[in-house]
Amino acid sequence: MSRRNLDASSLPSIIQGGMGIGVSSWRLARAVAQRGEIGVVSGTSIDSVVVRELQDGDPYDRRRVLETYPDDDIVEHLLDRFYKPEGRAEHEPYDLLPIHQFTPRVKSQRILAAATYTEVRMAKQGHDGLVGLNLLAKLKRYSLPCLYGAMLADVDFAFIGAGIPLEEAKQIPKLAAGEPASLRLDVDTSQVDEPDGPYTYDFDPADLLDDPPTLDAPAFFPIISSDALARIMDAKLPDEHVDGWVVEGPVAGGHNAPPRNKQYAEDDTPIYDEKDVADLDRIHGLGKPFYLAGGYGSPEGLQFANDVGATGIQVGSLFSLTDESGYPEDTTRRLIRGIHAGEVSVDTDGRVSPTGFPFKVLTLSGTLADDEKYQRRARICDLGYLREPYVDEKGRLLGRCPSEPVDDYVRKGGDAEKTEDRGCLCNALMANIGLPQYRDGAPELPLFTGGDALMNLPLGSITKPHYDAADVLDYLYGDTPALAGCCA
Ligand SMILES: Cc1cc2nc3c(=O)[nH]c(=O)nc-3n(C[C@H](O)[C@H](O)[C@H](O)COP(=O)(O)O)c2cc1C
Repeated sequence: MSRRNLDASSLPSIIQGGMGIGVSSWRLARAVAQRGEIGVVSGTSIDSVVVRELQDGDPYDRRRVLETYPDDDIVEHLLDRFYKPEGRAEHEPYDLLPIHQFTPRVKSQRILAAATYTEVRMAKQGHDGLVGLNLLAKLKRYSLPCLYGAMLADVDFAFIGAGIPLEEAKQIPKLAAGEPASLRLDVDTSQVDEPDGPYTYDFDPADLLDDPPTLDAPAFFPIISSDALARIMDAKLPDEHVDGWVVEGPVAGGHNAPPRNKQYAEDDTPIYDEKDVADLDRIHGLGKPFYLAGGYGSPEGLQFANDVGATGIQVGSLFSLTDESGYPEDTTRRLIRGIHAGEVSVDTDGRVSPTGFPFKVLTLSGTLADDEKYQRRARICDLGYLREPYVDEKGRLLGRCPSEPVDDYVRKGGDAEKTEDRGCLCNALMANIGLPQYRDGAPELPLFTGGDALMNLPLGSITKPHYDAADVLDYLYGDTPALAGCCA
């Protein structure tokens, strides 16, 4: 195994942040990497994205890339089982993958690795630029197969946030050496007197490939919200395990770290204070490159980053509405128009995400952000990405999600209070990218996210509700002036 050679002094100054599910698509990451910055694809639910695209007739010719994947049998299975040359009939429900278990089937791991491989390879096609993979530490079941598939596709960076990716840092070199890797699971064992733990999620490259090759390990950048976290990781890990940091504050799109003071307003909005501001001097003092994320998507933000010794900025919200993002064209247009017309705002919702992390919600009508639409959705959990592990009274390691039907959650030993006001992000985020499940002929509804930065959107307008990744980069470089006011 060799570590990717990182020359910290020549790192790009802009990371296009990873945005799941499928918002930071391979098309977006490729467009950004082609311009010499870092493009990032999302590993979150990528297996479901791929099997839905195959059922829709494979609009991006992913099969061509799948055919270069070294695990032939799983490619054949994916094509036989899911590819529909003519696509689905209108409103026909998608066939689903079995839910990836905490004690996983090797087949689920093989599918996930293959899917991630295609996403990274497609992002890397046609240029020599840098491409990263984004994962959420909280979703332990998926990280190892995703990382491995991405590494087979020669991914340059791994960015892992939403949790403390200490263990992941140690597993990356093992995967690169073709060795088995495992992650400890944080399991609710309250239903058994003598739990059988510690519980782990295990992954062995030899289950995928006869003779796992030696691979380059990607540079690893944890996404952290505080200098304390950086210092803990720095102290606990051998120096070569972490290559740098992305420091993300609470105005960023997607999930945010919970407020450190644990205070929430009555409507469940988290109340952040100065404790939530990372001490950048301390992070700088650790001696590694770092990027600032969350409200830095402007020429001034980039300048500020340089002034405090950061390598640059990670930007998500502006990129999420580009022509290359995973959102369908009519969605980005609706969002851009709605934002410029002042009809969409950004709420930080402390309840809706089953992860328990605050989640930024765009208040677009017709989505689950409408209380009436939210109330009308019958709870169902058929994708299961956000399930948490628990051990049942028979000692079995299983999963449950606070957004699943309340009776099921309680039957599984969960606390009913935890289910209140939760939304099914799995199905909503698949709907966001135009891949909604259909139930009785009706699609699952979307729920969009974006950071506070969108409230002063410097690109697009009501009359020209679109822009592309190059426009974002030109704006960040200071080459195009921002629109005056919001409503040009
Ligand atoms: C639509 C959207 C989805 C996101 N999803 C993820 C994600 O899956 N994982 C992650 O680490 N960050 C996610 N983020 C955060 C971005 O990667 C990035 O750090 C953040 O958007 C930067 O701040 P900004 O929103 O002010 O640009 C998401 C952001 C947006 C706008």
